[in-house]
Amino acid sequence: EKKIDGCTRCKLCQGRTTIVFGSGDPNADLMVIGEAPGAEEDVQGKPFVGRAGQLLTRMLQSVGWSRDEVYISNIVKCRPPGNRNPEPDEIASCEPFLLGQLGAIQPKVILALGNFAAQTLLKTKEPIGKLRGRVHPSGSIVLVPTFHPAFLLRNPGPEYRRLAWEDLKLARREYDRLRSRDSGPT
Ligand code: URA
Repeated sequence: EKKIDGCTRCKLCQGRTTIVFGSGDPNADLMVIGEAPGAEEDVQGKPFVGRAGQLLTRMLQSVGWSRDEVYISNIVKCRPPGNRNPEPDEIASCEPFLLGQLGAIQPKVILALGNFAAQTLLKTKEPIGKLRGRVHPSGSIVLVPTFHPAFLLRNPGPEYRRLAWEDLKLARREYDRLRSRDSGPT
């Protein structure tokens, strides 16, 4: 986290108020990855503290996770102007920090929120509707994609929420399975 202090690697530094590195337990077995900080996050310096963040908190709670026991971050750590999508050069500039976080935290499960996080992490152009609903193993980690809570707020019907809940339950099952595997009798 110290390494990102005062970062000027990309143009997002010009408009940001604070760098939103991440929050939660640095020893967590679940890492939640969103897109980029929004207005509220930019002011508070913490990820997912606005309306989408409140929904994320409830989504995590629905399968028994508190925010404190997981680690939450984003693909890019500074707010894009007007909440536009991060651009390829910005993602590339920020990637070493994300890789550093993954290396330090060593999660067992990654919950990727929305098209942007899922496509960036899986290096694919497939839409979230096609990627979600199953696990994507990568080495000893599994990635579980689901809808972004901001998308669920924009599309409040029960159908997307039901699918998101299925994904959360899948992530929870994988998390429990991998934890019991790693702590089981030797
Ligand atoms: N949306 C994101 O993708 N990340 C945040 O931190 C807040 C909203």
